[in-house]
Amino acid sequence: MTEHFRVHGGARLVGAVDVVGAKNSVLKLMAAALLAEGTTTLTNCPRILDVPLMADVLRSLGCVVEIDGDTVVITTPGELNHRADSASMGKLRASVCVLGPLIGRCKRAVVALPGGDAIGSRPLDMHQNGLRQLGAHSEIDHGCVVAEAKGLHGAQIWLDFPSVGATENILMAAVLANGTTVIDNAAREPEIVDLCTMLQQMGGKIEGAGTSTLTVHGVDSLQPTEHRVIGDRIVGATWAFAAAMTRGDVTVRGVDPHHLDLVLEKLRMAGADVTVPSHPLRPAGGRDGAPPPTDSQEFRVRQADRPTAVDFVTLPYPGFATDLQPFAIALASIAEGTSMITENLFEARFRFIEEMVRLGADARTDGHHAVVRGVERLSSAPVWAPDIRAGVGLVLAGLCAEGTTEVWDVFHIDRGYPLFVENMTNLGADVRRVNAEPERA
Ligand code: UD1
Repeated sequence: MTEHFRVHGGARLVGAVDVVGAKNSVLKLMAAALLAEGTTTLTNCPRILDVPLMADVLRSLGCVVEIDGDTVVITTPGELNHRADSASMGKLRASVCVLGPLIGRCKRAVVALPGGDAIGSRPLDMHQNGLRQLGAHSEIDHGCVVAEAKGLHGAQIWLDFPSVGATENILMAAVLANGTTVIDNAAREPEIVDLCTMLQQMGGKIEGAGTSTLTVHGVDSLQPTEHRVIGDRIVGATWAFAAAMTRGDVTVRGVDPHHLDLVLEKLRMAGADVTVPSHPLRPAGGRDGAPPPTDSQEFRVRQADRPTAVDFVTLPYPGFATDLQPFAIALASIAEGTSMITENLFEARFRFIEEMVRLGADARTDGHHAVVRGVERLSSAPVWAPDIRAGVGLVLAGLCAEGTTEVWDVFHIDRGYPLFVENMTNLGADVRRVNAEPERA
């Protein structure tokens, strides 16, 4: 039996939704636990499939991992197994993040090439080049990254592109290297800041978290810690788009709204009223002056009329996240006017447009660009989720379609969204999980 979601369109999403820890943070923090002998505790972890998969990877390296609700407890031994080639490695992208900690702790690592979403080519050249500059020999052999070093030393590393994964791996190797490492053109994502915060709590000496230049002064050893995972900005943005698309009114709790500054500004341009408790976001057209600081973990998105077309360009943080691109296309498909969406990170993410066209979207692509002419109403059809975010984009589109849309291959969505159907239902959407065989056209 194959599971699918049955989405009956037409409902406005209204209410409040709680968002827990970020998938793209917790998996790296679990890898960071390898850096210190002893027991590390992570709280606010999402109950998604990727967490037990990552736990399997850590167990194969010698750790004891217990998952109890939203708490993950990892006990790391003094002697780690340096071979990460279990079956779970190929099921998620973040598994590659054990490379940095393993080379840091064991001075050698054999790490199976990772899996994860099929969103385009995902090379590891920047990960390997960074480790080479720290003094490790690194090559691909029989489907594994094989790295070895007599000892790691600090280095000046310039990344060709602010890659999230490469920044994380180099950072986690450099914290235990001899001397100072400077990573230039480093990724600035909030999940990188979260990793730096945890490494600092463990005794790591890191400066510049959240900027393009990370300076890491190597230490001899790190201590285990307890750390709360930051809220998932991508899941938070999902509910924001859902509110805007269904002309709803949704309060999102558990996410720092400043991690979504640009996203919320784009939704405001599409006609949404976006508020953060204690202060409104910048008024229309106001680019002069940043919003006042707030430690709020909450925001509200209300949309009264049909959204207006807005252009989106995906870029590394603080640009518009590529993970949100399917939601941008879903919004554009029902907006008034024509939107141009430019994808600069993962070329295959546009594959999902074929599924959107099944739902009546008027969209075409030309290289990195998609042109979407908004229609008043989409029409239901069976569609297939190609990856996590695109799967959710199809559900959002289904909420705005006449009739009942079936979204298949929902195991992708389960990899990244805890309690997805329950949260949808609580907000008033008619979304059900069903077991049945598909009738593919
Ligand atoms: C992470 C996120 C993913 C998100 C992406 C960009 C996780 C588990 N996944 O993926 O959800 O969409 O960041 O925000 O955290 N590249 C190279 N060589 C390398 C590494 C990357 O060319 O060695 C390229 C990639 O092909 C891509 C770009 O750099 O075009 C960005 O990739 P990167 O930031 O590394 O993404 P991931 O860490 O894989």
